[in-house]
Amino acid sequence: MFRAAGNRNSGDPIMTKKPTILVTRRLPPAVEARAARDYDARLNADDRVYGADLPALVEGCEALLICSSEKMTQAMIAALPKSIRAIATFSVGYEHIDVAAAKARGIVVTNTPDVLTDATAEIAMLLLLAAARRAREGLTLVAENQWNKWYTTMLLGRQLSGKRLGILGLGRIGRALATRASGFGMEIHYHNRARLSPDLEQGAVFHPDPEALLRVSQFFSLNCPSTPEMRHFLNAERLGLLPEGAVVVNTARGDLVDDQALIEALRSGRVFAAGLDVFAGEPAIEPAYRKLDNAFLLPHLGSATAETRDAMGFCALDNLDALFAGKRPPNALT
Ligand code: DGY
Repeated sequence: MFRAAGNRNSGDPIMTKKPTILVTRRLPPAVEARAARDYDARLNADDRVYGADLPALVEGCEALLICSSEKMTQAMIAALPKSIRAIATFSVGYEHIDVAAAKARGIVVTNTPDVLTDATAEIAMLLLLAAARRAREGLTLVAENQWNKWYTTMLLGRQLSGKRLGILGLGRIGRALATRASGFGMEIHYHNRARLSPDLEQGAVFHPDPEALLRVSQFFSLNCPSTPEMRHFLNAERLGLLPEGAVVVNTARGDLVDDQALIEALRSGRVFAAGLDVFAGEPAIEPAYRKLDNAFLLPHLGSATAETRDAMGFCALDNLDALFAGKRPPNALT
């Protein structure tokens, strides 16, 4: 597809010069097949997580297709060869990329919004249900063959219907969660920097500051991006604003939560349960979470459906295709 002119005068056939890209992680087979078809793609068959060796590996490439495992800091971006024109991340979140540093070097950064909205909202719903209905304790009881009697007060959880769900960040994923939670009979409240138009709000109640949202949130979901200012947003003080026995879920980013404060609130029962799909420093997680029966934990599965992971890969390739066709990539961040 990306044809460079061959030496017509010599009678050589027209040579096809595909751009060279480095794909830093294993991607779904259909995505790797398309990358190999359309690019001179350096794939990572072993799925080794690259580190300081990345600049050397990318020598001679024009673009990188990365995942959130690759930390594209200012220093890393400065070390990239001059030939690099684009960094396409296989994620909607891009806090692992110093976008300003990339922009300063003239490198286009793209992400994969939209395609993972439904899958991530489904995991948020799963976390709400699992945390509120004590799924972890139920699973353990059955798996460890300890369930020997049914009784009327066994593992009583919290019902979702009729409860207020506070969503911090009513963006695409937040709204998809709101739609699903409404179907479960929940009343939706939210905070964004600016109030949404009624067609996007869909009846959700706006709170002009996050603290006001926390005060009404019997269930609370983090759906905002991770930024330096939002680090440890959910600290002891803010957890203390939640109604007694609230349920907290996080499908956004781990560093939005002060782990020690949440662990303490889960231990004391001040927070009834938490459903967490993301963790600061993942895949390492704060070990205390593992010992808490009221913490329902998943290994960052938000976008992990076959359909969505294919769509994310195709979206990242669409962005590169556009760039190499001389167009502005649809999801350019710079
Ligand atoms: C995203 O796309 O940001 C998901 O969290 C996967 O990293």
